[in-house]
Amino acid sequence: MGRHELQRGSVIRRVLIIGAGGIGLRHLKGYTQTGRAALSIVEPDPKKRADAIQNFDISHSYSDIGDADLTSFDLAVICAPAHMHIPLMNACVAANLPFMVEKPLAVTLDGVRETLAQVRSNGLLARVGFTRRVADELQQLRAQIQAGKIGDLKLIYMNSSQEFPKYRPDFQSTYYAKPEMGGGAILDAASHLFDMLIWIAGRPKQVSCMYDRLVLQGTQTEDTCLINIRFESGAMANVTINQFQKPNTNQQEFIGTTGNLMLDHSKLIYRNSDAAEPAEIRDFMDGLVPMEAHQARFAMQANYMLDALEGGTCHLATLEEAYVNLRLALAAKQSWDERRIIELEH
Ligand SMILES: NC(=O)c1ccc[n+]([C@@H]2O[C@H](COP(=O)([O-])OP(=O)(O)OC[C@H]3O[C@@H](n4cnc5c(N)ncnc54)[C@H](O)[C@@H]3O)[C@@H](O)[C@H]2O)c1
Repeated sequence: MGRHELQRGSVIRRVLIIGAGGIGLRHLKGYTQTGRAALSIVEPDPKKRADAIQNFDISHSYSDIGDADLTSFDLAVICAPAHMHIPLMNACVAANLPFMVEKPLAVTLDGVRETLAQVRSNGLLARVGFTRRVADELQQLRAQIQAGKIGDLKLIYMNSSQEFPKYRPDFQSTYYAKPEMGGGAILDAASHLFDMLIWIAGRPKQVSCMYDRLVLQGTQTEDTCLINIRFESGAMANVTINQFQKPNTNQQEFIGTTGNLMLDHSKLIYRNSDAAEPAEIRDFMDGLVPMEAHQARFAMQANYMLDALEGGTCHLATLEEAYVNLRLALAAKQSWDERRIIELEH
């Protein structure tokens, strides 16, 4: 199958989705929605492979990445659980195949530096799927902070807490249940918040944490974490997650010397006084259907990757940023395990 031109001038790219589980299906749909991709899959589970073939237009399907000629693809999207990310990235690097890997980058630091060095020396396009960077509200929030709207950023409070089993009923049988596969509140959920922090506040310097499994049954992972972070800039952040409470809370408040910007789900709220009403409020979900808007982010992310293949700039998380993120997550766990504040050396 060769590349061919669409009428509007875009190239159809041969995209290999590696892992057709929960998130792999979202990427299959997202890349399909771009109209710019011919899709193939690697999926070891025969039932999931058959489901994907039935529901999407799949050019080639493989049960093992070793069966695929990786040099015949333009882009890989790695959607296997995180403990498989390093060997799968290495396979892409060996074939000089650009890739996007799902978050988190990995579950330990083993082999991570070596993979990053290879990607750098090959000049390979590689990004990490921290989906929230695609959201307009987060891009606006970052732009406004960078433009000085709240003065100097000093403090960040983040609380992302909801009844996880309601949103992921199969949680006990997926990677989520196992720490060694990347599950739990810190690697699975807080890593999204860490990405926001690293993107907006810069490099973390110190971290302390408490974590535990307070409520969820049938897993070996923490469902709750309380994390404090200090950044090189001197700013500080407090990150709270529980995965059992009934209300769905998703708030990130950025506090500066002249005002506050808060993301409350999709609402961006600006306050610069103690008035009861905010100075500005905008809901980026107005008029949108939540599930459609969520899926649309995967199509947007796919378009960013396809644009990057064409040489466009790409603001999705780099492997280096995801490495800082992984070190922060592992240091947070270490902090509670050893009952001390961890220094992050760079
Ligand atoms: N960006 C997001 O919002 C988001 C949301 C959920 C999950 N994720 C991430 O996506 C990854 C996968 O999560 P999921 O929820 O889809 O898990 P899942 O368990 O639903 O699916 C993973 C799939 O990978 C397959 N797989 C396992 N080993 C493989 C291999 N060597 N080669 C190819 N496929 C293999 C499994 O058979 C399974 O179908 C994780 O890293 C997770 O953190 C990201």
